[in-house]
Amino acid sequence: MGDASELQERYFKWFTRAAGYAGGSSFQLFVSNIKADAVAKLSDADKTRLQPILDAKPETDVPVFTASPRSFVKEWTMDELVPLLETGLTKRDFDRGRQMFGAATCFACHRFDNQGGSVGPDLTILSGRFSRRDVLESVMEPSKQISDQYGSVQVLTTDGKVVVGRIINLAGDSFQVQTDMMKPGALTGVDRKLIEEMVESKVSMMPKGLLNSLQQDEILDLMAYLLSRGDRGHAMFKR
Ligand code: HEC
Repeated sequence: MGDASELQERYFKWFTRAAGYAGGSSFQLFVSNIKADAVAKLSDADKTRLQPILDAKPETDVPVFTASPRSFVKEWTMDELVPLLETGLTKRDFDRGRQMFGAATCFACHRFDNQGGSVGPDLTILSGRFSRRDVLESVMEPSKQISDQYGSVQVLTTDGKVVVGRIINLAGDSFQVQTDMMKPGALTGVDRKLIEEMVESKVSMMPKGLLNSLQQDEILDLMAYLLSRGDRGHAMFKR
């Protein structure tokens, strides 16, 4: 025992487990940074041998999404939905709200009530800081106000490329930009020497239009769920 390659395997298996831990997004970023550094130091032969471990997906507690893709309902506007927040948040359905949090893919990026992904902010305590309208606006127009910790960059290169996303690994002569939060493996390498300009992106990593495949009642259930902090006994759900 104590064989170097076995040690290496154990080390890299840890990253997969760590990626599944609930440590908040800065912890996840920290873990993916050390992993990227460690992988960069591997020889090609080791990389090939360890590939199945490097590619392994963490087991997560993300609830299963409704399998069938939902169809387009309509392009909802703030003007249509804001008045409904005043009158429509009674007799709501907690379970359907939770289901919509999965169906509209929110769980993929957000934790709520200790479940879900952590590339975006935890939304459980939202209602304490935000009004109903603010919460709706963050969902409808993600780029209007981007929370500081979750900003992204736009990189312009001297050879005319534009890369938008979050910087994952800044070590060395090149760095990796995560361009699609739904695909953590979608990384674009940028050579530091080729950077013409790097600015804070005005576009949120959260996609727009996520409510467009929901019916009006489903949106209101989702809003009630978000505002309830996960409390199914909340007045909004009283029949
Ligand atoms: C692809 C990942 C992704 C998906 C899917 C996603 N979000 Fe987000 N969300 C983010 C990121 C990243 C931020 C932080 C950046 C920002 O404020 O735009 C954010 C911010 C928010 C905020 C503001 C939170 C704060 O503390 O400022 C709310 C509210 C929110 N999302 C709700 C939702 C809801 C509801 C859904 C599902 C309909 C959803 N999000 C789907 C990534 C995502």
